[in-house]
Amino acid sequence: MADKVAPKKAVTQGTQGAQGVQTAPKAEKLVEDLVLAVPAFKALEVPQPLQDFYWKLVPRISLDETSWRLLDAFSAPDVNAERVAEIIRCNPYYENFLVQAIKALGAKEVPSLEAGVVLLGMQNTRALVVGIQMFRTVKGVHPPVLKDGKLGFSPKDFLKYAMKTDDALTARKSREGDIAFAAGVVFDMLIMIANEYSEDKAKLVVLIEQVWAHGFRTAQIALEIAQDLPDFGYRRYLIPTCMLHDVGKILMALLVPGYTGFVEDCQKSGVTRAVRVYAETTRFGLNHITLGALAMHYFKMFQPVRKAILFHHEPFLLKTRNKDLHQLANLVCLGSNVANHFKKTENVDDPIIVNWKSLELSGLDYDKADLMAAVSRVQL
Ligand SMILES: [Fe+2]
Ligand SMILES: [Fe+2]
Repeated sequence: MADKVAPKKAVTQGTQGAQGVQTAPKAEKLVEDLVLAVPAFKALEVPQPLQDFYWKLVPRISLDETSWRLLDAFSAPDVNAERVAEIIRCNPYYENFLVQAIKALGAKEVPSLEAGVVLLGMQNTRALVVGIQMFRTVKGVHPPVLKDGKLGFSPKDFLKYAMKTDDALTARKSREGDIAFAAGVVFDMLIMIANEYSEDKAKLVVLIEQVWAHGFRTAQIALEIAQDLPDFGYRRYLIPTCMLHDVGKILMALLVPGYTGFVEDCQKSGVTRAVRVYAETTRFGLNHITLGALAMHYFKMFQPVRKAILFHHEPFLLKTRNKDLHQLANLVCLGSNVANHFKKTENVDDPIIVNWKSLELSGLDYDKADLMAAVSRVQL
């Protein structure tokens, strides 16, 4: 009998947005149906901010494959014009914009896409494609094109955080500018969403700058600490994970009216982080940690580190799971603590150290003297 029943849509409430796709219809019983048949599950309510996240934000933050592939290619040391052209060639929409941009430079003929990338410049090509794709994703419209075929805006104008991050790392002679650029793109996308859709733009702009500055500071500190950990396997992801660990705060502020006021009140009251998270979860039904980790699914390049974001307040929970992720979460947590209580000290009994290596990091086997030396090397 069951075989003759017309197949229904495979996606049910609560999974549609999370997966973002409609899986193939099946005649047999679905796992979702079995789960939803459990009486206790029916009583669970999906918090409003989580519903809004899937319906309102996910379509605006789901930057398409071309941009992520390009950003990923740039984060490799051997990126070249051939690789960049190969990615762009897969998407003729952007190939056309690239050809127009090269013609706008005065070139009558472009011998090949590879030559065009060289002519325009590798960084400019990346900015062009990512800037246009961000515009389309966030605003949901085609970018304006002038009568002469030129683009009606400068893509670089939308990539200020990405470029600021890259420049800051280049100035420090760090080789990680390109992967940090990709993390900066996330901030640029969120600021574009805030400018486009938020009624509380001014406060959001301030919060975005705060989260970026705290994330960047955390990254600088964690980089120094990681120098003492030769067997750390996730070094490539250290800067972006540090930069994005609190990005859930921006997402919460985009979804929940009054969230920026809540953050300000917490900062003024000086309550502990555990109390802040408890208050946040109780009041809004969701917190920035969960939301930030969920969002990593859509920032495709950073999918591998979503657990480190999810446990950045409780890294010990990863101890028995994945050694590298555990170490990454430890470094983010420690870097963030030091960033919030920054001081260069040579006294092992300095009370500030208790704020750095607090209880959630008690399992971290890292010498106090090494930690003080690493913090002393940090140039903020
Ligand atoms: Fe946090
Ligand atoms: Fe933090």
